[in-house]
Amino acid sequence: MEITLESPLDMHLHLRDGEMLKLTAPLSAAFAGAVVMPNLVPPVTTPQMMSAYAERVHAALEGAAFTPYMALFFTALDEAALAAAKATPGFFGLKLYPAGITTNSEGGVANLKEADRTLHIMEEMGIPLLVHGESHGFVMDREQEFLAVYRDLATRFPKLTISMEHITTAAAVKLLDEFPNLCATVTLQHLLITLDDVAGGALQPHLFCKPIAKRPEDREALLSAVLGGHGRIMFGSDSAPHPRHRKEACGCAAGVFTAPLALPKLAELFASHGALDKLQGFVSGNARRIYGLNPVEKKVTLHDVPMQVPAAYKGYGETVVPIYAGQEIGWSVK
Ligand code: DOR
Ligand code: ZN
Repeated sequence: MEITLESPLDMHLHLRDGEMLKLTAPLSAAFAGAVVMPNLVPPVTTPQMMSAYAERVHAALEGAAFTPYMALFFTALDEAALAAAKATPGFFGLKLYPAGITTNSEGGVANLKEADRTLHIMEEMGIPLLVHGESHGFVMDREQEFLAVYRDLATRFPKLTISMEHITTAAAVKLLDEFPNLCATVTLQHLLITLDDVAGGALQPHLFCKPIAKRPEDREALLSAVLGGHGRIMFGSDSAPHPRHRKEACGCAAGVFTAPLALPKLAELFASHGALDKLQGFVSGNARRIYGLNPVEKKVTLHDVPMQVPAAYKGYGETVVPIYAGQEIGWSVK
């Protein structure tokens, strides 16, 4: 069995910076493009920082046919700043983090009311809003508690395209039915694992991410929406590499590194459910339609020939451990 995907897109990707960027960019470039997250240290808050980061990303890609769609870290920008961002090559949208909710998000939004003016201008200018939607509540309830915020934003800014990033719950899937201006990304790991896989036996640091994987019924809801061809759910890997010593440590950093095997594993998953015909929409078609993207032409053929996942990826003095490290998965890139 095989499938050829046309210009697959990853709508949520962490590439990092410096030596780590040099290692991860080529490993993430099977896709035709990806939305690149801005939670660097310091975060990417200005068009100038974004341009400079995009240049470093391009250099690290070493000529791969891959378009970085750059996300700017949400701060209360005025009209002139948003116009400047919009005019900057490679700009995609703003990523809003509640302050302190995840890796390098200390400079995020502490009081959402202060975001209103910026959101209003974004709505007028047609700039998408991407949101890390978690409250500061109990870890398993954070996403569900944040749904009230999505409801409020979607109601008050009906023309703003709001992406609920990396949704993990049945309730978030359901919320899409209420508001046509909401869309969502779903990661690979949240289609595959539950909290049991992370912490049900010996703790698995390489499966620890934010939002944390949830209950079996949540995974089922994500799977059935995605495999059913939901038109407003896009693939966003949230592939989030951390150095091995920051994962296999007391105070394990949040993030699952999936980029190098995301497409083969997605194909295996969709094939196992007899839903390969829905994969193109999930990894490209929905994003193109929602955001009007016209990615570079790139065909990726995947087939049901197993691949061995490396125990780790190493280079530039960095070591990163992927999901399924040292294991075989059923599909590979042809
Ligand atoms: O697990 C995560 N890792 N979740 C996030 O929201 C951020 C990401 C990262 O940057 O490491
Ligand atoms: Zn992320």
